[in-house]
Amino acid sequence: MTAEILKIVNLNKSFGRVRAASDVNLTLYEGVLTSIIGPNGAGKSTLINMLSGSIPPDTGRIYFQGADITRMPVHRRVKMGLCRSFQLVNIFPEMTVAENLLLPALAIRNLTRRMLRAIHKETAVHAEVAQILERIGLENEAHTVASALSHGDQRVLEVGVALAARPKLLFLDEPTAGMNPVERVRILENVRRLSANKETTFVIVEHDMDIVFSLSERVIVLHHGEVIGDGTTEAVKNDPRVREVYLGQEVAA
Ligand SMILES: Nc1ncnc2c1ncn2[C@@H]1O[C@H](COP(=O)(O)OP(=O)(O)OP(=O)(O)O)[C@@H](O)[C@H]1O
Ligand SMILES: [Mg+2]
Repeated sequence: MTAEILKIVNLNKSFGRVRAASDVNLTLYEGVLTSIIGPNGAGKSTLINMLSGSIPPDTGRIYFQGADITRMPVHRRVKMGLCRSFQLVNIFPEMTVAENLLLPALAIRNLTRRMLRAIHKETAVHAEVAQILERIGLENEAHTVASALSHGDQRVLEVGVALAARPKLLFLDEPTAGMNPVERVRILENVRRLSANKETTFVIVEHDMDIVFSLSERVIVLHHGEVIGDGTTEAVKNDPRVREVYLGQEVAA
């Protein structure tokens, strides 16, 4: 068993009468590529929002590498290595691909204020940007304006932006949303490859079951804010409660 990276204890969140998280207890482990699935409105994004710090839980605690981060602001979590990408594209469209990567790479080194002066001297940062471009397969698009990229490449860039902050744990909320099947396979192969080097632990929210089951080492199933399934792909596929929620369709496929 690998080391714990994140521990969630009795997490609850309601929006009016909707229980978006209901007594969620989970432990995530370093290097284990994990997917979170569940029908629309199950609470997947809400969970990621609470873990990454953009919304506070009503009750419960969150521990990152043993430290209680329940009330910690987003930027401090990012500095600790806990990052996320969004369900919608979240890049600077007017900037080039390389510039989009440069910003978080500078921020994580506290170099943002040097931007206008000596940015060209920061060779380590430029080397890192080049490395990320290569890791995400956009090395030939460094000087392309982000808005000119295909939708799929914009999502790939978004993963790169998240990687530039050197995350230990990275949540990707529907990284393949709006992609065609070819682009989907590409981004997920990317995630698989990036996950294999174990620098970053990936947790992804994904609706396509074929992708989930071919990619993940662990699958967590949410329904009405509750964890109703958790385990290996085989265990989750055969879980009666999970099959009930998915009407036996996608999961059985
Ligand atoms: N800011 C909010 N205000 C009110 N209700 C919200 C808010 N955010 C989420 N909800 C509700 O909480 C529930 C969980 O929503 P959430 O977005 O977490 O689901 P999800 O699993 O990410 O769904 P999807 O697959 O559609 O992205 C839903 O009923 C949703 O309408
Ligand atoms: Mg969502």
